[in-house]
Amino acid sequence: MKENIMIIGASGQIGSELTLKLREMYGAGHVYATDLKEPARDVLESGPFELLDVMDDKRLIHFAIRHHITQIYHLAAVLSGNAEKLPMQAWHINMNSLLNVLDLAKEVEEIKKVFWPSSIAVFGPTTPKKNTPQLTIMEPNTVYGISKLAGERWIEYFHKRYHVDTRSIRYPGLISYKTEPGGGTTDYAVEIFYQAIKHGRYECFLDKKTTLPMLYMSDAINATVKLMETEASSLSLHTGYNIGGLSFNPDELANEIRKYLPGFRITYKPDFRQDIATTWPESIDDRIARKDWGYNPKYNLSSMTELMLREIRKKLNN
Ligand code: NAD
Ligand code: SER
Repeated sequence: MKENIMIIGASGQIGSELTLKLREMYGAGHVYATDLKEPARDVLESGPFELLDVMDDKRLIHFAIRHHITQIYHLAAVLSGNAEKLPMQAWHINMNSLLNVLDLAKEVEEIKKVFWPSSIAVFGPTTPKKNTPQLTIMEPNTVYGISKLAGERWIEYFHKRYHVDTRSIRYPGLISYKTEPGGGTTDYAVEIFYQAIKHGRYECFLDKKTTLPMLYMSDAINATVKLMETEASSLSLHTGYNIGGLSFNPDELANEIRKYLPGFRITYKPDFRQDIATTWPESIDDRIARKDWGYNPKYNLSSMTELMLREIRKKLNN
């Protein structure tokens, strides 16, 4: 069967790379990118794109029927830092957009699979911080984390009750050079590279010893398509799969950058995002993802740093 894929939030940090990957895999004409805002040129020029608000349930259903959509990747959300600034709006957007998509998948028979990303933000201050298990205490105290935990409950509910094939990953902080991140707590690990190259210094909004789980973008994209391609019978979970990868703090990242830019200086001025970061895990136990669908990230701190510096330098020179 020919797949027709809809990506909601295709102009964002993940969507801009996932769209290109899916177009390579399924053919450009079969991957429909949508967002509230225009995407980067390569997404716009490589296949169909439409401005669409996921909160508009009527347009959403018309779009899905018109294009015979069979899979949805729903990436639109308000991320952790921005969510704390406008908690009620973030809750409204994060929850109601997901419920719109789930209800659509339940009603439209052609839609066979839904991917919706969860986050390490589902964990909270009472969760064991090191090698955080798949199943553990989950008492998030940020509006973003609460919305992700509630979202995980809803996707599992729709799977059990209505047989919608929902799939999800608890992404760690994602590091990429193509599209800048959209207002999260882990954004420092991208900003630092731009500032190091442009100015040789960076003022970090997290404290130097704040260790968080992170992942290079191509590992996240490969994980996402691998999970979506796996036979349903192999999946033991329809909540969010834990995935780990890298685990470092700003001090360790700065030391790695100094191997290439010896004069690089970092100073620390923690802001409200520090309070979010201290409630999140330091590292993740991802054995179930490895076993169920073969999760196997490639990048370590050293290869990620080398690649980020090289690619951002190229980008800034152009
Ligand atoms: P992003 O902020 O970069 O992109 C989100 C996109 O959604 C934006 O382009 C935005 O314009 C769009 N959008 C917002 N409201 C919309 C609406 N009403 N209708 C249509 N589009 C709308 O975010 P991202 O980093 O690409 O994250 C994508 C998903 O992955 C989110 O659910 C996020 O919570 C999750 N996630 C991201 C990370 C990360 O480090 N990037 C980590 C964990 C989870
Ligand atoms: N990178 C994301 C954030 O900081 C984690 O979900 O919001």
